[in-house]
Order: sequence, then C-alpha cells, then structure tokens
Amino acid sequence: MSNSVKKSSSFKKFKGPVTVAVIGAGAVGKEMVRILNQRKFPVKELKIMARSARKLEIDGKSYDVIETKPEAFAGVQIALFAGTEGEKGAAVTFAPEAIKRGAVLIDNGSDFRMDETVPLVIPEINGEDVQWHKGIIANPNCTTAVLLMALAPIYRKFGVKRAIVSTYQAVSGAGAKGVSDLRSQVEEYLSQGKVTDSGIFPDPIAFNLLAHNWKIEEEGYSNEEWKVIQETQKILGDKKIQIIPTTVRVPVFNSHAESIYLETKKPITVEAAKAILNEFPGVLVVDESSPLNGKKCPMPLDASGRDEVLVGRLRKDLQNDKALLLWASGDNLRKGAALNAVQIAECLF
Ligand SMILES: NC(=O)c1ccc[n+]([C@@H]2O[C@H](COP(=O)([O-])OP(=O)(O)OC[C@H]3O[C@@H](n4cnc5c(N)ncnc54)[C@H](OP(=O)(O)O)[C@@H]3O)[C@@H](O)[C@H]2O)c1
Repeated sequence: MSNSVKKSSSFKKFKGPVTVAVIGAGAVGKEMVRILNQRKFPVKELKIMARSARKLEIDGKSYDVIETKPEAFAGVQIALFAGTEGEKGAAVTFAPEAIKRGAVLIDNGSDFRMDETVPLVIPEINGEDVQWHKGIIANPNCTTAVLLMALAPIYRKFGVKRAIVSTYQAVSGAGAKGVSDLRSQVEEYLSQGKVTDSGIFPDPIAFNLLAHNWKIEEEGYSNEEWKVIQETQKILGDKKIQIIPTTVRVPVFNSHAESIYLETKKPITVEAAKAILNEFPGVLVVDESSPLNGKKCPMPLDASGRDEVLVGRLRKDLQNDKALLLWASGDNLRKGAALNAVQIAECLF
C-alpha cells in the first residue's frame, strides 16, 4: 500500500527462536509479555527491563525485571520498546545501544514514527514495509491504529478523500497512572462529591470529558490530532488524504472508540462496506445482524482483551452516496500498541 518496494534493502529474516527484550513494564510492556505468551512467539530468552529491577507478576507468573542499561542488550535480537518518549526517554536513550548490539527495535512511542528512514507499520495494511527497516520499526499511535483498521479496507476498494474522526479515548492510553488516577477520582467523587487532584490529567477525568488532554500545537490541533493526521498519511503512503480529528479522553478504563465519517472517491453502500470489512483480517463487524456475544454494537468493554477492532453502526450519508459513517472500538493496549508490535515482530520471520 505504501511506497516501500523501492526502498527495500538487505532485509534478513529471523529463523527459529530469538532473544527478545521488552523495555518498559507498564501498561503496554505487561500486555506485550502476555501477547508473546498467547501467540507462542518463538522466544529463546525473554528480558524485561524498566527503570528499576524488581519482580513482576503477569497472569499468575512471576518475572524478573532488570534495570535498563546498555549491557543488558547483549544478545538481544528483537527489542520491543514500551518505555517513555522524548529526548531522555527509553527509546531515544537506548535505541543506539540496542542496535549497536545487533537488535531490531520495535518502538511504541512517537520518537521515530515520522522519521523517513523508519517504517511505520500496521501489518494487515503495510506489513511489507518492515523490509526496508534500518534497525528501527515504529508502531503507530493507538488512535491511528484503531482508525486505520476500519478505514484501510474501505480505502483500498473505494478510495477515501477525507475522514472526519472524533475519538473517545480510554485512560489506559495514558499508561498505568491514567488507570489508577481514574479509579481514585471515581472513588473520591462518589464519597466526597468532588475531585481534589486531577493526577496526570489537566482536569478531573472521572465523570468528565477532556478534549484538551493533549498539548495544543499548530493551527489549534493537539499533538494527538497531528499524530493521527501524519501517521495515517505515512502508513497509507498518501499525502493527500485529509484527516480531520478531534481527540477526547473519556472516563473508560480500557479500549478506545471512534466515530468516523468517510468521504469516498467512488460511490459506496453499507452492504458493500460491511462485506469488505468482514473480510479484512483483524476487523470484526458487530451489528444487529452479526452480534458479538449478544451485543449489537462495538463497545470498549467488549473490545478489551480482543485482538480485533470492532466496527459497527454503518450508515450512509443521506445527502451523499460517496460517504459512510462508522463506529469503531479497539483495545488500545493490544491492537493500539502491544499486539501490533508483536505482529510487526512476526513479520521479521
Ligand atoms: N498505553 C497505550 O495505550 C499506548 C498505546 C500506544 C503507544 N503507547 C506508548 O507506549 C509507551 C509505554 O506506554 P505505557 O502506557 O505502557 O506507559 P506506562 O504504563 O507509564 O509505563 C512506562 C514504563 O516505561 C518504563 N520506563 C520509563 N522510562 C524508562 C527508561 N528510561 N528506561 C527504561 N524503562 C523506562 C517505566 O519503568 P518503571 O516501571 O521502572 O518506572 C514503566 O514500566 C509510551 O511511549 C506510550 O506513548 C502507549
């Protein structure tokens, strides 16, 4: 789908079990370990790293977490980064150390996503782009991943000119602290009728909606909104596609939801869209005629813990036969982060 082929280099595939490092033992790091186990990823040795050494329990199993240091990357073949972002963050600090020691790095943060030398990959959409990596492959933002799983199948068949997207983003998207802050704010609000400390959020998140959770940048768009615009264009290899997002943090523990309005290049019908969405790997249509465990609409509680992005509420635009409305929900810790990263790693075999 993207412009990868001309950039392909001397891509070498792994054969057999490999030494894997997970850097970060927070919301995404833990989910990565769970997914490596669930998918029976060929792991020879697993190293879990964080800022400090400790024991970590995941699904009843105890793991040793070691301190992230350059020497800890010795022998690591695939390094799944789920640490902090930015100049002093885990990926920027340790990427050169990991690559120097022979690892291929798959990063969940935003530091390398828009770097022209770094493929930005959703395997179902542009998995072939891993072939031109030069040591780093980036995972998209969780909001971009959920949007593109619903948009890409329609883009391929009907073309998409414009997408107007409003997001309903869970607090786990802000990491483990986001989850504990929502829990304590709900308890405080219910017992005292107010929230005294908004934690990592700019205002209370309990019983509230925050359309200003992210830093406001150019043209009044937030940095989260810019990520969705730019990452979509890069993954699809289409600088002309217009993405018009409004990102909102909502008091939901896990799984994002998105309201999506697509303007297509060719006329589209609800039936045709449903058929191609149903065929697309990683997407599950949930509606009146295809309920999921009795549920007739995608919801964060049902998307949580699942690999598929749930898509439903398909409707036509009553005034425009080249447009479609959708509602999607996907697990931001899985398809939005850890699952997608492990799927990228699987593309290296
Ligand atoms: N949450 C999501 O839905 C989501 C989705 C897509 C992408 N991401 C990205 O994934 C990354 C991790 O997010 P998260 O939600 O898991 O955050 P989190 O729950 O806050 O966990 C962050 C983890 O990173 C570790 N860490 C921080 N600085 C480090 C350093 N310099 N070296 C090594 N480890 C370090 C922390 O170690 P300690 O435990 O020792 O403090 C912690 O275990 C972020 O870049 C985030 O933007 C998150």
